[in-house]
Amino acid sequence: MIPFLDLKKINQPYETAFQEKLKLVLDNGWYILGKEVETFEKAFAEYCQTQYCIGVGNGFDALVLIFKGYIQLGKLQKGDEVIVPANTYIASILAILQADLIPVLVEPKLETYNINPALIEEKITSKTKAILVVHLYGQLAEMDKINEIANRNNLLVVEDAAQSHGAFGNSKKNKFQIPNTDVLENNLKSKISNLKSATAYSFYPAKNLGCLGDGGAINTNDPELAKVLFSLRNYGSDKKYFNEYIGVNSRLDELQAAFLNAKLPNLNSDNDKRQIIAKRYLAEIKNDKITLPFWDLSNNHVFHLFVIRTSKREDLQAYLSENNIQTVIHYSVPAHKQQALKDWNNLSYPITEKIHNEVLSLPISPVLTDEEVSFIVDVLNRY
Ligand SMILES: Cc1ncc(COP(=O)(O)O)c(C=O)c1O
Repeated sequence: MIPFLDLKKINQPYETAFQEKLKLVLDNGWYILGKEVETFEKAFAEYCQTQYCIGVGNGFDALVLIFKGYIQLGKLQKGDEVIVPANTYIASILAILQADLIPVLVEPKLETYNINPALIEEKITSKTKAILVVHLYGQLAEMDKINEIANRNNLLVVEDAAQSHGAFGNSKKNKFQIPNTDVLENNLKSKISNLKSATAYSFYPAKNLGCLGDGGAINTNDPELAKVLFSLRNYGSDKKYFNEYIGVNSRLDELQAAFLNAKLPNLNSDNDKRQIIAKRYLAEIKNDKITLPFWDLSNNHVFHLFVIRTSKREDLQAYLSENNIQTVIHYSVPAHKQQALKDWNNLSYPITEKIHNEVLSLPISPVLTDEEVSFIVDVLNRY
């Protein structure tokens, strides 16, 4: 069986490095907010070309804390509306609710699965104060257009980059047609999304940069927000036993940070491998029953997932399974149809619903071999 994602194979090469990291933490005898967290925050801020990185407990908390930070700074108030894509993992929407804000759902583009900027403005009211952009499946949303709308309407832009570590925007160039030096230069100019206010990351094990448990981070260039967030994640306290804010306990674990320090140097090459596989899938899968995902071949997509669409999803999934290929559906029930959000169940978001009815994620990861990709392509083309 070709597994959908072989996490054991992904982490095995790090076994020695992880053991060394564990020994380091044991030798230090310091387990919460120590040197490893500090080192990771510095390294990840640098990697993302942002000024601050605040390590937190998970990606969900990263989002909630950004909103709580803005509430603390008086830039948001309880009951404010936040624009969010209807087509996302439910965590994005739950984070808005958790911060006592009101999510306002906007349909995606069918081609990119990401929020459709053309549909944002009609949802803006006097209560709208922010847009939560989600870079779904690893592909950046159309940030130029979104930032322009946000500027015009004086809205904060928060980014959910839980699935898009290492993607970067403003790269009109085709990654596969320019020499490496150009790629590097571009990399330095605008690494990672188009950070406007704050970006949330998850290091859940299956992510492009994943640890061995839960982990998350917030990146920002805003010193005021960073100061509040460093405190909010730690009971609202900068100085032990003195509490400035009503905070929470959501700190990036020292050991997880140590593991992330071992893995971060390979994030770019891992993403390159994902893109090479995506490029093969896009060129070689030829089947009228399957719609392939859109990609402009730039670095704005790091293929956390390779998501195809078909009206025969259950049948195709069963066929792939019979042929020893494991696939996963991301996601089968949209947020507005979930039992948890009963009040929204009668709402209609036809494009979001169509996507949820048709999507199927193929195996893609840095450890998927050429032979496995060839086998998957061949099986799909014979469907
Ligand atoms: C789009 C999106 N947002 C937020 C999250 C939340 O991240 P975590 O699971 O680390 O809380 C996830 C991950 O599951 C996600 O995919």
